[in-house]
Amino acid sequence: MQNSIVDIEKEAFQSIEQAQDSDQLEQLSIEYLGRKGVLTKFLRNISSLPENERPGAGKNANILKGKLERAFKSAFSKIEAATDIDFTGIDVTLPGRPAHIGSLHPVTQVTKEVCDIFLRLGFDIAEGPEVETDYYNFEALNIPKYHPARDMQDTFYVSENIVLRTHTSPSQPRVMEKTKPPVRIIAPGKVFRCDSDITHTPMFHQVEGLMVDENISFGDLKGILTTFVHQFFDKETSLRFRPSFFPFTEPSAEVDIRCVMCKGEGCRICSKTGWLEVLGSGMVHPAVFENVGYDTDKYTGFAFGVGIERLAMLKYGIDDIRKFFENDIRFLRQF
Ligand code: DAH
Repeated sequence: MQNSIVDIEKEAFQSIEQAQDSDQLEQLSIEYLGRKGVLTKFLRNISSLPENERPGAGKNANILKGKLERAFKSAFSKIEAATDIDFTGIDVTLPGRPAHIGSLHPVTQVTKEVCDIFLRLGFDIAEGPEVETDYYNFEALNIPKYHPARDMQDTFYVSENIVLRTHTSPSQPRVMEKTKPPVRIIAPGKVFRCDSDITHTPMFHQVEGLMVDENISFGDLKGILTTFVHQFFDKETSLRFRPSFFPFTEPSAEVDIRCVMCKGEGCRICSKTGWLEVLGSGMVHPAVFENVGYDTDKYTGFAFGVGIERLAMLKYGIDDIRKFFENDIRFLRQF
């Protein structure tokens, strides 16, 4: 009799483990613990055992009963947990939903495009800080403290001598202080001005260009900028160099391109002039060279600064600069 309780236990646990679903488990629990079950029968038959074996057998059978009850309970909950997911209405053969892949922001794309053109022309990329000293943003660029040219750039002052850079031009003296000519760099980045309307945002992007060597002439400036405009827009786009003023260049020129919308006929975008202003440029002023310790008898150079959003607006026909920074997915998806 003692042996058979061990056998019952072994068999019962094996069957519980192999049960596939709750019906089978139910069946097994009746088989072992039901009114006519194996264990119940065993307990009933105890009275037929020799008197000295009865207490031990009864005790063992009751222990097993408890064990089996717990084993059934946990087996039931395991099966329930596994079948808890409701697969009705799910077609597992459907193809998966594609993940939405984002794209680079148009400002990033255009910055990259501009940089790529100049990299192919042999320029290197330089970077400068967005929080800049008054010295590099103005003084080193020949814009003294009370010079009226400061008024052109509505400046965010952090403290008396620290500003958010109003242009990428401070990268010119920063690079020249550290390198001897020849210098051929472009410096893309964020710039800040206290200004906000349909064509201005308090933060926007520029790319600065600088080339310094012996015998650099205005002809080189024209050649490089013409190549740039032809590659960025198209070969048919003509340019004009219009005399202008910047304290850090002499002579200075603003570059206009034939209106990309009306091809020069005159429209709303070009205010009926047929031309669009795209960038500022000029021959580096000798005062800037002196500030960085370059020999003004030996070296000449040109510089230019171009607004990225402006280029993007002209290339893609965008009429409001603020669209770049509203994060409207319907706008951004088009790039
Ligand atoms: N820094 C000027 C601005 O933001 C643009 C500029 C003009 C940059 C002439 C230049 C330059 O390098 O030569 O208005």
